[in-house]
Amino acid sequence: MTERSISGVRVFVAPAAELELAIRDIVLDAIRQKPDAVLMFPTGSTPEGVYAALVSQFRRRRPGAPNPSWSQARCLNMDEYWRMPSWDRQSYAWFMKSHLYGWVDVSTANIYYPDAMAPTAEEACQAYEAQIEALGGIDHCLLGIGVNGHIAFNEPGYPRTRTHLVELTESTIEANQRFFEPPEAMPTQALTAGLDTLLASRRITLLATGAAKAEAVRDALTADPGNDCPASFLQGLADRCTFYLDEEAASLLPGEAP
Ligand code: GLP
Repeated sequence: MTERSISGVRVFVAPAAELELAIRDIVLDAIRQKPDAVLMFPTGSTPEGVYAALVSQFRRRRPGAPNPSWSQARCLNMDEYWRMPSWDRQSYAWFMKSHLYGWVDVSTANIYYPDAMAPTAEEACQAYEAQIEALGGIDHCLLGIGVNGHIAFNEPGYPRTRTHLVELTESTIEANQRFFEPPEAMPTQALTAGLDTLLASRRITLLATGAAKAEAVRDALTADPGNDCPASFLQGLADRCTFYLDEEAASLLPGEAP
């Protein structure tokens, strides 16, 4: 794994399998240090390997072994399609349950997600922010990145704010329709933890793999921080935020090839 610093952010580059194990260990260390750690997780294809590694490690757990229990950990989803019930297999609640929460010993009472079925979006957003505050804030936030530079569902051009209802952009709809049958069934609105919600996390790890993410990663690390590329606001967090990239995702970054 190579390491460099770009715009003050620590950037690690390695094959995806290596990145996934490194991030698995970051999450497990967070739980070891604080058994009731508040952990925020993304959906998407990118983190699936991290979740598989966490599940596999959990299964190797033996009494007295160093692998921690998730029994006190608090797990939060960062976004959800608006009006998508949690039992729907296309929901992000379902995604996290089927890829991670359902396979470790996290208590269902300690799993939180924005309530896409609340009477109004405003109520859902306020309730989620109040929930995060009541939990004492986010200890570790794992992020993916959209091809347009979005993190969670914070789309380009939208002001920095806290949890809100978002109109998904054409780019995001195009990227995510692959999960829906028929593709037109994909919702065009979502609830998302806002940039200010995410950026307040005590530690942030962004994982990006594949050439499709190279431009978004370059802009996140080298563009002037601003709404055109929401992930670019991570630059201001230098000491709290680390990027983990495979060579394809890192291919447009300046400096020595890793
Ligand atoms: C969705 C999620 C993001 C995720 C992004 C990238 O839009 N809201 O949290 O980072 O997809 O997903 P993928 O990893 O499938 O490219």
